[in-house]
Amino acid sequence: MSQQTMKVLPRTVAIGADVVNVDLANVDAETFTQIKAALHTHQVLFFHEQMLSPEAHMAFASRFGEMEIHEVFTPLEDHPEISVLVHDRDHPPISDSWHSDVTYRTKPSMASVLYARSIPPNGGDTLWLSATAAYKKLSEPMKLMLEGLTAEHDFLQAYGSYFRKQSDGAERLRRAQIETPLVEHPLIVVHPVTSERVLYVNPTFTSRIVELSRKESDAILKLLFEHLLQPEFQVRLKWQENDVAIWDNRATQHYATGDYYPHYRRMHRVTVGGERPVGVNAMQHAPAAIRAVT
Ligand code: SIN
Repeated sequence: MSQQTMKVLPRTVAIGADVVNVDLANVDAETFTQIKAALHTHQVLFFHEQMLSPEAHMAFASRFGEMEIHEVFTPLEDHPEISVLVHDRDHPPISDSWHSDVTYRTKPSMASVLYARSIPPNGGDTLWLSATAAYKKLSEPMKLMLEGLTAEHDFLQAYGSYFRKQSDGAERLRRAQIETPLVEHPLIVVHPVTSERVLYVNPTFTSRIVELSRKESDAILKLLFEHLLQPEFQVRLKWQENDVAIWDNRATQHYATGDYYPHYRRMHRVTVGGERPVGVNAMQHAPAAIRAVT
């Protein structure tokens, strides 16, 4: 495939684009710059008919930054940076709730590169939403209130019940409490590249708004989770084998439908490390030099 004729075909105004005429195993520097720019504009990119060895998958992903290792997913043999997301009759889908990857970490991933290895006969689509589009559609008084707030993100809210079903679950729960304590992130964060504001709560990991009473927090989170789900903020991929999706994890959330169970579905995922999310108030008080580069 020629690297010169890369084309970006948007799916909606808010989010998602197909990228054609690119071989991800052979991306030159100029094409990579174009891919990165397209990612910042469209937030999730879809590439089709890609032939990637595990090494080529990792080589491409690592151009975005340092690859990470996931706390829960099984790694590909001899490739700890590739998480194998495999589901069948005995391993029901577990990614069927809206989330950004690993917001329970102090520094959540900046991007994910997901490669479709085996697709079920029906279903198994993935949906993404734009959390910048969702932010823009909030009313001004609501934006102002949320800018001053912080939310708690909880690893065990998502994985606690999964661990409890495992034979070594008690030990995994004990370790998780030590290794993945609760973290707090601003509820509205500023994207470090585009400077767009992001509504930064997700129903999988966000457990509480720190500054509010439990009752207030539950009500506001419920409203925000519902707000995020407007179809106008979403795009959906019906996977073919050898498709690759790359998403900007700082600006999006995703949901892998579980509607193919009990069929077999196998994906390989590499995530790339990001920075600590920064809130609006921190940006307002940051020195001009820092604001200028973001
Ligand atoms: C995930 O990264 O949450 C999994 C997405 C998918 O399997 O489609």
